[in-house]
Amino acid sequence: MKSLCNLPVRIAGLGAYVPDKVLDNSMLEQMVDTTDEWIVRRTGIKERRIAAPRQATSDLAAAAGRKALKAAGLAARDVDAVILCTCTPDHVFPATACIVQTAIGAVNAFGYDLQAACSGFLFGLMQGAALIDSGMAENVLVIGAETLSRFTDWEDRSSCILFGDGAGAALLQKESAPGGGEVVFCEMGGDAARADILEVPAGGSRLVASEETVRQRRHYMQLQGREVFKLAVGKLGELVDTLEEKTGVDMKDISLIIPHQSNERIIRSVCDRAGLPQERAYMNIERMGNTSAASIPIAMEQAVGEGKLKRGDIALLLAFGGGLTWGATLLRY
Ligand code: UT7
Repeated sequence: MKSLCNLPVRIAGLGAYVPDKVLDNSMLEQMVDTTDEWIVRRTGIKERRIAAPRQATSDLAAAAGRKALKAAGLAARDVDAVILCTCTPDHVFPATACIVQTAIGAVNAFGYDLQAACSGFLFGLMQGAALIDSGMAENVLVIGAETLSRFTDWEDRSSCILFGDGAGAALLQKESAPGGGEVVFCEMGGDAARADILEVPAGGSRLVASEETVRQRRHYMQLQGREVFKLAVGKLGELVDTLEEKTGVDMKDISLIIPHQSNERIIRSVCDRAGLPQERAYMNIERMGNTSAASIPIAMEQAVGEGKLKRGDIALLLAFGGGLTWGATLLRY
C-alpha cells in the first residue's frame, strides 16, 4: 500500500439524496423471520431508504451531484471529471458516470465508474484529489451512489436487514488559502483472497446470467456477515495504527470520525480498539442502513448540516467492504 499525503484539495460543496420510501424494521418483520429488537441490537438500524421502481443509481447520483454543485456555486459545464463510485451501476456498460454527466449537464467532463464496494468513495476522493494536485483537473465531482435494494435477497434475513439506497457527492477543488482544506493523508488496500464472503456471484463474465443462476438466486448479494464483521474490525484498527505512525496525528485532534455505516457494533468496536472516543464517531445508520459507497458522503453532508463538521476541522474517514477493500482518509474540511 502506498499512502498519499498533504494534497491542498478542498471539498467545495457536498450534496446528498435519499429516496422517499422508508422501509422500517416493522415492515421487515412482515417479510422475513426477524424482529425489530434483533435488528436494532445487532446492527443499530431502524429504517433504510428504498429507490422507487423508476429510479436507477444514476438518478440518485445526479440528484446528489446537482446539490453538491449548487453548494459549491459551480456550473455543471465547469466540471472536468465525474468519478462515480458504485457497485450497483445502471448497466455493465455504459458507465453510470457518463449517464450522470449528461443528466446534470457536465458536457465538458470525462467520467468513469469506480468499483470498490463500500470503500468506493474513499478511493474516488483519493483519485479526484490526485487529478487536481497533478493539474489535470480543476473541478472534480466524486459521487458515491447505490441502489443495493436491487441486489438484495429479500428472502435472506441475515443480509436484507442491512442495506439501503442513496447517494452523496463532493465537489473537489484546489485549495489556495493556507490552512484551508487538505487531504492530509490517505491509505487504501485490497485483497480478493476472501472475496467470497461478500459478493454478487453471477452476472459478470465469470458466471454468466442464465436461468440456473436466476433460479439459484446468484444475482443477489451473498454475505457471510460474521466473517466480514471480524475482518472489518481488525483491518480498520490496523489502518488507524498506520495513520498514527505515518502522520504522527494525535487522535484527540480529530474532530469527527466518519466511518462507513456498516454496523453500529463494528463502528463502536473500531473506536474502542483504536482508542477513539465513540461520541466523536458520526452515525446515521439508524435511519439509512448500509448504503455502501454512498454512506460516507451522505454522512458527511448530514454532519455538516448538523454543525458537527465545520471548516478547518480534521475528519477521519474509514471504510471496509467487498473486494475486500479498505481505506482511511484524514482530511481538513
Ligand atoms: O459494509 C460491509 C458489509 N457489511 C457487512 O457485511 C456486515 C457485517 N456483519 C454484520 O453486520 C453482522 O455480522 C450481521 C448483522 C450480518 C449479523 O450479526 P451477527 O451478530 O454476526 O449474527 P450471526 O450471523 O452470528 O447470527 C447470530 C444468530 C444466528 O442464529 P443461531 O445460529 O445463533 O441460532 C442467525 O441465524 O442470529 C440469527 N439471525 C437472525 N435472527 C433474527 C441472523 N439474521 C437474523 C435476523 N433476525 N435478521
